[in-house]
Amino acid sequence: MSDILKLKEEYLKKLSENISLENINQIKSELFGKNGKITNEFKKISNISADEKKKFASEVNSAKDEIQTAIEKKIKDFEIEQINSKLQSEKVDVTLPERSFVQGKIHPVSQVIDEISSIFSEIGFSVEEGPDVENEYNNFTALNTPDNHPARDMHDTFYLDHKKEFLLRTHTSPVQVRTMLKGKPPFKIIAPGRTYRSDSDQTHAPMFHQVEGLHIDKNINMGHLKGCLNHFIKEFFEVEKIKMRFRPSHFPFTEPSAEVDIGYELKDGKIIIGEGDKWLEILGCGMVHPNVLKNVKVNTSKYQGYAFGIGIDRLAMLKYGINDLRAFFDTDYRWISHFGFDPLDVPSNYRGLSR
Ligand code: PHE
Repeated sequence: MSDILKLKEEYLKKLSENISLENINQIKSELFGKNGKITNEFKKISNISADEKKKFASEVNSAKDEIQTAIEKKIKDFEIEQINSKLQSEKVDVTLPERSFVQGKIHPVSQVIDEISSIFSEIGFSVEEGPDVENEYNNFTALNTPDNHPARDMHDTFYLDHKKEFLLRTHTSPVQVRTMLKGKPPFKIIAPGRTYRSDSDQTHAPMFHQVEGLHIDKNINMGHLKGCLNHFIKEFFEVEKIKMRFRPSHFPFTEPSAEVDIGYELKDGKIIIGEGDKWLEILGCGMVHPNVLKNVKVNTSKYQGYAFGIGIDRLAMLKYGINDLRAFFDTDYRWISHFGFDPLDVPSNYRGLSR
């Protein structure tokens, strides 16, 4: 028997025995590595005389092929064995009881912000955001509320430094300023977010939520403001008609200014919106004061418009029958389990934000 045949027999035998994957890799390099036994046989071919060459070459080639086939088969066997043992060890016992899990709830305020954004985006408003920490210029001065203006005290501001340069925004109106400073008219935005005032009782929390609205264009008037709010309130409370009343008011950044009440009735301790003869204040609004527009470089001979600020928490309380505002922010798990929303539990008028 030639050396090559002997070599072949020897390795085929080894490969038929019970060996590990490491052994196989070792065999591979012993035979086919740079100085492997088969590799070296191939190197000899060129030095062999012509008449012996053919036989020799075919022996080497068949040794190589047979051994490689045996190696591949062995590796396949290993893989199958591995899969089988995995299937054995990872067997699922479908008779086991399910593991319990707790699903989170969406806070009523988040839910209401989504509903509000959805309604306004349908009529062309986009959503803007501003920071909770504001400078006094954006929160007051630009909004026509200069130093020593009594409105500054009315807001019970949380200042963050002795110089009173930075504060926690007392309303969402500074987002009007930010939006107009960074862009060009027309503007048609809402800005929902957190606001802060040093105040706390059943209907006031030191941190609460507002949504600002701003619409500036050519020829925008109070009729547009009224139409827009009327549409919003009907959509939000899911009613066909509402009673709405504009009461003259004062804000430094709007002229004329108004507060808006909606008519309601108490039936069996429940608030029914749109009926009855009781009135509930829900927002402040007005035509943006020319001084504000001048401060943010909007040409007042061409552009004008309205703004409004709605208390979000108040709307959530009304719509979902929650009577203590402070409970909103107590982070009581039982409260959120009761008043919170399941992620897929959407009210009938909610059309989603992503459209
Ligand atoms: N920023 C006012 C407030 O918080 C509400 C408001 C906004 C009034 C816009 C008029 C216009 O009281």
